[in-house]
Amino acid sequence: MRAEPFRIKMVEEIKLLPREERERLVKEAGFNLFQLKIDDIYIDLLTDSGTSAMSDEQWAAMLMTKQAYAGSNSYYMLEKVVKDIFGFKFFVPVHQGRGAEHILFSNVVKPGNIVPNNSHFDTTQANIKFIGGIPRDFVIDNTCDTENNIPFGGNMDIGKLEDFVEKNRENIPLIMTTITNNTVGGQPVSMENIRKTREVARKYSIPFFIDACRFAENSYFIKTREKGYENKTIREITKEMFSYADGCTFSGKKDALTNIGGILATNNENLFEKIRNMLVVTEGFPTYGGLACRELAAMAVGLEESTKENYLEYRCGQVKYLWEKLHNVGVPTVNPVGGHAVFINGKKFFPDIPQEQFPSQTLAVELYIESGVRAVELGTSCFGEMDEKTGRMILPKLDLLRLTIPRRVYTNNHMDYIADAVIRIYKQRKEIRGLRRVYAPPLLGHFLARFERFS
Ligand code: F0G
Repeated sequence: MRAEPFRIKMVEEIKLLPREERERLVKEAGFNLFQLKIDDIYIDLLTDSGTSAMSDEQWAAMLMTKQAYAGSNSYYMLEKVVKDIFGFKFFVPVHQGRGAEHILFSNVVKPGNIVPNNSHFDTTQANIKFIGGIPRDFVIDNTCDTENNIPFGGNMDIGKLEDFVEKNRENIPLIMTTITNNTVGGQPVSMENIRKTREVARKYSIPFFIDACRFAENSYFIKTREKGYENKTIREITKEMFSYADGCTFSGKKDALTNIGGILATNNENLFEKIRNMLVVTEGFPTYGGLACRELAAMAVGLEESTKENYLEYRCGQVKYLWEKLHNVGVPTVNPVGGHAVFINGKKFFPDIPQEQFPSQTLAVELYIESGVRAVELGTSCFGEMDEKTGRMILPKLDLLRLTIPRRVYTNNHMDYIADAVIRIYKQRKEIRGLRRVYAPPLLGHFLARFERFS
């Protein structure tokens, strides 16, 4: 592996609080790490979203932008890059991915409609439910066996999708696919699978949208894992992926290497009219879309940078470096490694903690106490739903801990520190008890949930 394709020009101090302090803080936070303050954290692996280190070129472009309500030069910079990379006819900037989701679904989904996806992310799910729609996941089955080693574990189950679409055609306003598939371990989706999903959508005349948050990482996996793509450039692969879709939602906070921003794009002029009208009401005028114009410039430059192959080799290489350290000593990771994070299977990590007692959330809490590292649970707390009839929780198949690596922020020394802490907990796993949830609001409950420790 080559060294990082950048030098560090500015640094930010991080501090490790004493262990007793960390114990006290996490207890006060109701064992919910979303409630901790950044100064309480040594290494923050909560998300790769909006946490990238920006380049000197991004900062320079931000300074050179002329701030304007209408017609800012950075809008035209962004338009050029978006046309070149995504290739859709129309687009608007939005404040972040969920802004795009809200506007898209408000205009195409009606109460009772069903939206198929390989796996909806939590905000995508919530935005569909918010307007009375029903999100349905069709990810391939064996992805849930986290030992599977399938190169494209994020794929849609095309057979199941087609069966479902055939029976429910009238009730499906759009089909989506999420690249990479965050919910099942950041696993990529193959070009073949995207093409086949498009074929199903075309056959039944249903629009097909891509949730493109991590499209550059997905392109890199297609290049390195899918036959026939090894000699294509990242830009060629990206172009082909988007050529199969009718539009996309995109959070610039991931693969545009920015701290805020997103886009919503479509080829459909009628839909675009509606999107633009709603954008003015909820986000802002179409040449700024709820952002300061400098953020558009940062996205434009970031999109150029994130689609460079040497950057992606470093980026995906660093995630793999951490994954290998854990996987090689038997920590139950999701395999093979995905794009933006190392995922650990909480149920396998703590076989003695029942899923109702939040094994991955327990691991997140233990990791913070052990090392000051903040990771995030994507499992029972995040995706578990209450069955209103029985009052019991409907448990999701997967209960994962995500060690999410921000882009260009931490070095491999940080990765070593994280791996050592996880391995120390793994060695003591028999002594650790689970959690009881004592509060959770109905939508996106994991942000505000509170837990107690079983004593
Ligand atoms: N879709 C996917 C696949 C995502 O991972 C996210 C955000 C969104 C949509 C929404 O984008 O945050 O800009 O509104 N994921 C972040 C995460 C929050 O931590 O995985 P947003």
